[in-house]
Amino acid sequence: MNIKTPAFIIDEAQLISNLMQLAEIRDQSGCKVLYAMKALPCSRVLEIAKPFVNGFAVSSLFEAQLAQEILGDNGEIHLTTPALITEELYELTTLCSHINFNSLTHHERYSPIVQTQTSMGLRVNPKLPFLKDDRFNPCRRHSKLGIDIDMLWKSNCLESEQISGLHFHTVFSATDFTPLIQTIEKLRDYFGTRLEKLHWLNFGGGYLFHSISDCQPFIDLVIQLRRELNVEIYIEIGNGIIGNAAKMAASVIDIFESDGKTVAILDTSINHNPEVFEYQRSPDILEQDIKGDHSFILAGGTCLAGDIFGEYRFKHPLQLGDKITFSNVGAYTLIKANRFNGHNLPNFYFQPKEGEVKLLKSYAYQNYQQQWQMNI
Ligand SMILES: Cc1ncc(COP(=O)(O)O)c(C=O)c1O
Repeated sequence: MNIKTPAFIIDEAQLISNLMQLAEIRDQSGCKVLYAMKALPCSRVLEIAKPFVNGFAVSSLFEAQLAQEILGDNGEIHLTTPALITEELYELTTLCSHINFNSLTHHERYSPIVQTQTSMGLRVNPKLPFLKDDRFNPCRRHSKLGIDIDMLWKSNCLESEQISGLHFHTVFSATDFTPLIQTIEKLRDYFGTRLEKLHWLNFGGGYLFHSISDCQPFIDLVIQLRRELNVEIYIEIGNGIIGNAAKMAASVIDIFESDGKTVAILDTSINHNPEVFEYQRSPDILEQDIKGDHSFILAGGTCLAGDIFGEYRFKHPLQLGDKITFSNVGAYTLIKANRFNGHNLPNFYFQPKEGEVKLLKSYAYQNYQQQWQMNI
């Protein structure tokens, strides 16, 4: 099949390989694995993940609704969000098997009214800042994410009859388990035997299991905690499941000189990967040759001056129509995408394990019009 750029291509073989590795870790350790839908809630991905995971981790009513549609009665749905809304709570409790309160006020306000079939937990901020950049750091000062561990320690919320679990999420793209081990040590130091009344601990996401060569420390930790505390252990992984399982293909649509450098405009933009701009990072591209003689600034086609992917080197000079392929773009890209400047969203393709690539979805002018047409 001829792929029409800009094209977002999901790689089934890589996705299944990531899921199989997690399923194996689950079998060896006894932990439960959730897919964090926020990374990419594409139904094709959810359907593929479904047999490999115990359920989905969600952050809102919409995600919970979609999770329920895909899982039916065959999976758990865990909600963690600072944005619990009173009007949505009843519906959320009918959809979610687990709800984590983000604050002591959440706990005070909502624990008396959550349906008893929903297991309630508390998100704790262990105040161990593992990330230098505060924009990603849930343990930054004055954090809005989770209950300050010192305040939780002083309160008697953990002892509350309604609370069955503790949740934390503190890292991003971690490739070793040191932060996890240190976090568990701190929780055990603080709460000791108070943890024994819990039914579950949720370690959050943020670990790139597929890039960690030795997962034995994780397996050992889970086995130890399950034995000593008699708790279930959950992980909720997004990037580590879908991140490296999608590519974005773009075409060069213009090339010109600007102040002594050559700029190549692509038929994609940071609209399709807003974190490039938000965090000023240059995404990986497959065609790059770091020793190549030909340097180009790759830029998106919107009116934003900073709509730039970065400067890359190539073996041969780029030509009009050349393809550029961004790798590792499965997570936190298209879920944040927009149609700024009226530029369309990319076409969605699916590369099955065997056989030809298939078009999953493409958008037309009517989708743009529908979004913005607002008659009284
Ligand atoms: C509470 C929570 N759980 C899980 C995740 C998934 O993290 P990742 O995609 O890095 O695995 C996130 C990501 O932001 C999160 O905020």
